[in-house]
Amino acid sequence: MSDKTPDLHTAYALKSPEDNKRLYAEWAGDYDDNFAAREDYQLHIQTARAFVSAGGQGPVLDVGAGTGLCGAVLAGLGVGPIDATDISAEMLDQAMRKDIYRDAIEADLNHGIPVSRDSYAGIVSSGTFTHGHLGPEVLPALLRIARPGAQFALSINAQHFEKLGFADALRRMEQNQIRNLTLPKVRIYGDLAAGPNKDDTAFVALFERI
Ligand SMILES: C[S@@+](CC[C@H](N)C(=O)[O-])C[C@H]1O[C@@H](n2cnc3c(N)ncnc32)[C@H](O)[C@@H]1O
Repeated sequence: MSDKTPDLHTAYALKSPEDNKRLYAEWAGDYDDNFAAREDYQLHIQTARAFVSAGGQGPVLDVGAGTGLCGAVLAGLGVGPIDATDISAEMLDQAMRKDIYRDAIEADLNHGIPVSRDSYAGIVSSGTFTHGHLGPEVLPALLRIARPGAQFALSINAQHFEKLGFADALRRMEQNQIRNLTLPKVRIYGDLAAGPNKDDTAFVALFERI
């Protein structure tokens, strides 16, 4: 265990899936109170609302579900069943305590998700396509497990979107794999946030699998 309290700065500087596992194992217990509440984190709410507004329905997979913040909003909006997947067993353990998920699937998305193709009518992800975490190369693994017509709502940090070439990846997918792509931009944090990242934004990539 490191002697430094996990924070956003540490999370953005992660370099590998192993780094992610280590950091989130340490952060899981106080992520909701020490990060989400303190930073007035809003992205899970924006992502869940965008999914529902686009007509999204269950069964849904919450990708990089963490402690289950996005799933909790989805469940409150009447969506279900919801499964959670994450590389961190400790984060999933927190998520399952919220009693909103059907299943927890511990997996490194870089190696795909161990479920059958066409399993889900919806895929959501909040806060996981960001600095130090996941890039566009994992999108094919998500398309595989989504049914034809499945609704996606994936938040992507706006700077990360530019830096990692999400626009090109989505444009290629639009040729024959997805339709109805829109990219509303939202604020990641609310008015109570302070610090250097308080005005950070994300795109919510909304699209349907063909
Ligand atoms: C910033 S948290 C977001 C958690 C939650 N969705 C939210 O909005 O609060 C990012 C999550 O992505 C997970 N993650 C990072 N790398 C991953 C990978 N390679 N495969 C699956 N999950 C990963 C982390 O374990 C962590 O729970």
